Amino acid sequence: MSYENILSEFSNGITTITVNRPSKLNALNKVTIEELHTAFAEADKSKDTKVIIITGSGKKAFVAGADISEFADFNIKEGGRLAAKGQEILFDFVENLSTPVIAAVNGFALGGGLELAMACHFRVASINAKMGLPEVSLGVIPGYGGTQRLPQLVGKGRAMEMVMTAGMIDSNLALSYGLVNHVIEQEELIPLAEKIASKIMRNSSVAISEAIKAVNANYKYGTDGYKTEIEGFGNCFGTEDFKEGTTAFLEKRKANFPGKQD
Ligand code: COA
Repeated sequence: MSYENILSEFSNGITTITVNRPSKLNALNKVTIEELHTAFAEADKSKDTKVIIITGSGKKAFVAGADISEFADFNIKEGGRLAAKGQEILFDFVENLSTPVIAAVNGFALGGGLELAMACHFRVASINAKMGLPEVSLGVIPGYGGTQRLPQLVGKGRAMEMVMTAGMIDSNLALSYGLVNHVIEQEELIPLAEKIASKIMRNSSVAISEAIKAVNANYKYGTDGYKTEIEGFGNCFGTEDFKEGTTAFLEKRKANFPGKQD
């Protein structure tokens, strides 16, 4: 499928989605958000895609936020709708995908850009990356889940400071906050994400999707994560992957997992 503002490429079990508006520092306009939804949904459906990597094109930005020019004249209703729709089709959608999603943060990840990275299952960053939620400097608040996911990842006090100051933190501070898992030279960023992806791919996709559900349940209001874990654990016993994983162990060989289930 061809897109206007993104690229989606498949190779060796990995679909790499690149936000491709470098002249606008990959800012997320409506079309880009819709295209990202489609690309993520396609990759998640594909039996061949074991891991998804999302990054930004060019050397400067991952995503420099929602496209400010598109919402500058919105009223209260339109603002609310913008946040609700975006959360539904992209941010919550990505967080709840059953395929692992790694954000490769290659530069500015601001506002909606950091919110997109935070919706991914984990993040790696290049040394030049800068992260922040500058919304209050524009007279608005983060609307794509930033006020919820940032405290989950870095703790309430740090999140409050980042939101209130609207400042940017560099990749090493982000690493010490636990906002990103690894920091590396820019040229090494995608190879590192691919190396981690290849480790993930050795394991059962079916079990990983149950694990994502269980971990996410911890952050869902009104959901008992322990119950979700028990249910997921039980479900695994009915899968081909479980038979293969345990049999391979007992036969002292490497498991060859059948892959994603319908
Ligand atoms: N929405 C729309 N356009 C954006 C954008 C955004 N979030 N971020 C960058 N752009 C555009 C700029 O308007 C500029 O377009 P132009 O060349 O047509 O004027 C282009 O991308 C390059 O950005 P520029 O500001 O010239 O680059 P810079 O190196 O001087 O500054 C930033 C980089 C990231 C510090 C700066 O672009 C910025 O502050 N962006 C907005 C970040 C933000 O507030 N995001 C949250 C939105 S809710």
